Amino acid sequence: MASVIEFNDVSVNRGSKQILERINWSVAADERWVILGRNGAGKTTLLQIAAGLMHPSSGTATILEQTLGRVDVFELRPRVGLCSAAMAARIPDFEKVRDVVVTAAYAVTGRWREEYDDIDVERAEDLLRLFNVFDLADRTYGTLSEGERKRVQLARSLMSDPELLLLDEPSAGLDLGAREELLAALTEIASDSLSPATVLVTHHVEEIPAGFTHVMLLKDGQISAAGPIEQTLTAASLSEAFGLPLELVSNGGRLTAYGAQ
Ligand SMILES: Nc1ncnc2c1ncn2[C@@H]1O[C@H](COP(=O)(O)OP(=O)(O)OP(=O)(O)O)[C@@H](O)[C@H]1O
Ligand SMILES: [Mg+2]
Repeated sequence: MASVIEFNDVSVNRGSKQILERINWSVAADERWVILGRNGAGKTTLLQIAAGLMHPSSGTATILEQTLGRVDVFELRPRVGLCSAAMAARIPDFEKVRDVVVTAAYAVTGRWREEYDDIDVERAEDLLRLFNVFDLADRTYGTLSEGERKRVQLARSLMSDPELLLLDEPSAGLDLGAREELLAALTEIASDSLSPATVLVTHHVEEIPAGFTHVMLLKDGQISAAGPIEQTLTAASLSEAFGLPLELVSNGGRLTAYGAQ
């Protein structure tokens, strides 16, 4: 099966700063990846490229068999679901929650058509139910709490039935209950063989949903470890990536990390 993401020697430079350095990474359609790394390691930059929103300074990035720089990114972008702070910032406060989700089917933010197909509205409402925010469908986005917004953003990222789903810190701002619900929803998505390949950036190993298969540890723009979670995510690899001694324990499959004494 062809890769969903294929990075060959991908580097990103801004001025004298090397944000990503020769990243080689391949994601198959049935894989679910977690990306961990310190603030500033390059995680969001990596997702921006995978979403077709940024081009590498050098190297090649092929997303859904389309090599960036050689394709029309406007055709590629609707095939990729992205939930990120940058994407969220583009949602107008005055937009109705239902429209925030349904407009993703047309890859726009800000409702511009008077009518949408019933089937799209039904799908948007099903997704709002999946993330337990259907009762907010008629509210305006600007009136929602941080956690409510996050759930609406997640519903939006799945609206276009993407072939690749990219989630950049989706649990930031969620309370404990909402975080656990999000984890349950992502576990459900991960366990469905029809779900898209998924890449999740998080700061917390506790938030790795069951069914996620691979991990990448990014350190200063470079891959410090990558591979199947069970073999790759260890106290040693985590300590190396974060630059401090860490313990890693598994409680019924759920991981916790904390500073080694
Ligand atoms: N246009 C730019 N010019 C200079 N530096 C930049 C630019 N864009 C990003 N950076 C830097 O690149 C590094 C990586 O940024 P990125 O947002 O990818 O990190 P991150 O791993 O997502 O961090 P966080 O965990 O804080 O979200 C940061 O040090 C950031 O300041
Ligand atoms: Mg980031």
